[in-house]
Amino acid sequence: MIFRQLFDTESSTYTYLLADESTHEAILIDPVRELVDRDAQLLDELGLTLVYALDTHVHADHITGAGMLRARTGCKTVVSAEAGAPCADLRLDDGATLEVGVIRLKALHTPGHTSGDMTYVVTDAEAPDAPARAFTGDALLIRGCGRTDFQQGDAKTLYASVHEKLFTLPEETLVYPAHDYKGRTMSTVAEEKEHNPRLGGGKTIDEFVKIMDELNLSQPKKIDVAVPANLQCGDVDDDVQPIRQDAGWAPLTRTPEGIPEVAHDWVAGHLDDVRVIDVREPDELEGELGSLYGAENIPMAELEGRMRDAGDEDKDKPTVLVCRSGGRSAKAARLLEELGFTQVASMAGGMTAYRGQGDAAPDSCG
Ligand code: FE2
Repeated sequence: MIFRQLFDTESSTYTYLLADESTHEAILIDPVRELVDRDAQLLDELGLTLVYALDTHVHADHITGAGMLRARTGCKTVVSAEAGAPCADLRLDDGATLEVGVIRLKALHTPGHTSGDMTYVVTDAEAPDAPARAFTGDALLIRGCGRTDFQQGDAKTLYASVHEKLFTLPEETLVYPAHDYKGRTMSTVAEEKEHNPRLGGGKTIDEFVKIMDELNLSQPKKIDVAVPANLQCGDVDDDVQPIRQDAGWAPLTRTPEGIPEVAHDWVAGHLDDVRVIDVREPDELEGELGSLYGAENIPMAELEGRMRDAGDEDKDKPTVLVCRSGGRSAKAARLLEELGFTQVASMAGGMTAYRGQGDAAPDSCG
């Protein structure tokens, strides 16, 4: 298995690359947005295809590169189901597993720094006796831990996560944190159990809570931009070109925000093959833009209620969402994906583009 530990000197973040040497498939853990070029170049040089970009949690000190990597490479973005980031392609529950070539990854929910922290424990299927690597995010740092005073942090919860989930891993397990500020690169479970001044050496939960209460840390300088951006997988502007995906049912593209889109001219030629749902208000369909042949009208506000209990047949039916200029239908496509619809897309540019009226301003009402 290929393993690389990469470092961001600005935020002291470690990014980890793991890859299968035979299948050339790779994963990245905690990529940093400003360093996506570095990571993409390394993937290129090693001849690797990125399958997943994972975040251990919603970071407050840097913006994730996951969304940008998804737009560039077509990889899937991965985060905890508890992280509150609906932009992610996979939202893992505690105990979820991923397999990429020889990489076996198990997600352990280790909240406390934030409510959505995951530790990813990785083993090599071809080296079963080698110690596992635990990518602990900010739940457990080398001789430290992440703060617990914002983002739903809670010291008691973190103590339980570390003692019940991480310190019960085999002692030889290698600990790779999301950060280090003193030049250290890795540790082991045994070392942290003995030497971690906050959580190890027999510290009680009350001692830990007191230590954390008395830290009095200042806010990370990027928190105001990083947290909201990371809740969108780091997609904070649109300077990334969408990539083409072979979705099978349609020539789909995904925007940098991860919205599945199809072109209006493709929709025009496939009106008999897809279910078209127009999410505008009824009176808009009477206006000069009209509506598509056979389109059902389900206004945006009613969409979730009407589709939540849809059966498998409906959920697997190719479905195109339409609105005036593509803003509401993008949200609708994302919503239906979240509800489990497997073949959905927003019609790019909406009815304005369909009628040949060029680039429309985004829907003012979303
Ligand atoms: Fe963090």
